[in-house]
Amino acid sequence: MNEVTTVTDAAVVKPVPTLPDAQKVTEVKHYTDRLFSFRCTRPASLRFRSGEFVMIGLMGDNGKPLLRAYSIASPSWDEELEFYSIKVPDGPLTSKLQHIKPGDEVILRPKPVGTLVHDALLPGKRIWFFATGTGFAPFASLLREPQTYEDYDEVIITHTCRTAGELTYGRDIIEGLKDDELLNEVIGDGFWKKIKYYPTTTREDSPKMGRITDLINSGDAFKDLEVEPICPKNDRAMICGNLAFNLELKEMLENFGLVEGANSDPQTYVVEKAFLD
Ligand code: A2P
Repeated sequence: MNEVTTVTDAAVVKPVPTLPDAQKVTEVKHYTDRLFSFRCTRPASLRFRSGEFVMIGLMGDNGKPLLRAYSIASPSWDEELEFYSIKVPDGPLTSKLQHIKPGDEVILRPKPVGTLVHDALLPGKRIWFFATGTGFAPFASLLREPQTYEDYDEVIITHTCRTAGELTYGRDIIEGLKDDELLNEVIGDGFWKKIKYYPTTTREDSPKMGRITDLINSGDAFKDLEVEPICPKNDRAMICGNLAFNLELKEMLENFGLVEGANSDPQTYVVEKAFLD
């Protein structure tokens, strides 16, 4: 009997094995039945540039890590990491990831990469961030990055979603900028006046309806924002959304005279897919 008790006690005090590259979830927020965000601890060794992505995930049922590319939504100076995710009911990863709670562990491979970085663009006066759905994530990082306001006089962020509820995450980030102590200190009071936010919905009524691509083609977007049309001399752009959107907008920007850039060859616009299950 004693022996059994001893064995049981030993099992209880044995530390729970930690996942490789494990990080602890600190906060989870659900926005709609399709969207949620979470924050987790940041590995001390992880350095990244705002706008980059990493591989994150969970241990699969087969004992192998199930990882997907996720843009880091928090800025490079943040002590924690933030991610913004879709919930795909039968998606191998997000069907499970959507149930994480503070205290749970996620796997994070600390090798950041990506092209939605300031280094991949030539200097300009105005920067456009074009997002659909969870493609807002890298811009949630870049909008909280002081360099964005140091490098540009004007920052325009467009976000097209199906419903008004799907705009909430982005709207919260933008409203939070006014009270961001670091940005106010580094960039100065009122830095947020440089930002123009253009949210649109396609499947539910909201103050501005329509796909951003259509609103640019019709000229409505420029009229609403009270800005000159895009030109290669002044404008720089970053695109992140679903594949069809990326391709359509890429072509439109090239028709305005912009040229696709990369880390090794900075130009006037860059593009990245919002990764889905
Ligand atoms: P729509 O409702 O007209 O398809 P999703 O949630 O499917 O990733 O889509 C996010 C948003 O991107 C939706 O509002 C969707 O509009 C829009 N969208 C999808 N394809 C394109 C495209 N080719 N150009 C512009 N917007 C698009």
